[in-house]
Amino acid sequence: MKMHSALSGRRIIVTGGPTREYLDPVRFISNASSGKMGAALVQAARNYSDDVMFIHGPVDTAVSEKITCTSIAVESNLEMLTAVRNNLKDGSIIIMSAAPVDYKPETFSSRKIKKTGSKLSFDFILNIDILKSVSDHIKKNNMKNMFICGFAAETDNFIENAMLKIKKKNMDMICLNDVTEPGSGFNTDTNRVTVISEDGNIHEIKMASKNAVADEILAIIDKKIGGANE
Ligand code: CTP
Repeated sequence: MKMHSALSGRRIIVTGGPTREYLDPVRFISNASSGKMGAALVQAARNYSDDVMFIHGPVDTAVSEKITCTSIAVESNLEMLTAVRNNLKDGSIIIMSAAPVDYKPETFSSRKIKKTGSKLSFDFILNIDILKSVSDHIKKNNMKNMFICGFAAETDNFIENAMLKIKKKNMDMICLNDVTEPGSGFNTDTNRVTVISEDGNIHEIKMASKNAVADEILAIIDKKIGGANE
């Protein structure tokens, strides 16, 4: 039974998990994101809309088994960006909890890199910023009634850095994580987030299970979108 809300009938796209960028056919650079927050957001979103999609990087089966909506598995930033862009439509709500890889190897070796000297070094180049590319795409194509919620993993200057990200990437809202705090951030079952709106409004969600935190995040989005439509 779905709640009757401002989100009913709207497409909700959630991104989650890490991405991977390959150095050669068997090696890649990635990070410790588990996708648990993304999976919790999907479950929370399903209470509001039947049209929920999870676009995720490599996650454990314990995470993917919990997904009861359309899901698309990707590896690289480009694949994640393409999947999000291909599934956008007017009225979409995009919640980007993924942890994409910021830098990728400058070159990809199609053959396995053999062990030679005692040292090995690589050059890395800036990778695609998925959220920024999506928000630019929405603007360029004049898409209507879109809502973008990002996440910010920070270790210092929390509110200031999160506000900068909102502006730089043109978001409506950001969920700020202190990744140094025990029980918060990567690969935990709990989380504590500070939700900041583009108008500077701040809402603290106290430490709780990722499912409870996701429920609160969706309730905040529902209220914001409902309020804007009144
Ligand atoms: N993000 C993205 N593509 C990237 C990096 C981040 O789409 N290449 C998104 C994340 O999904 C998140 C938001 O941007 O919703 C902020 O991510 P975060 O890692 O906190 O910030 P960065 O922009 O990568 O900045 P920095 O690592 O310098 O703090």
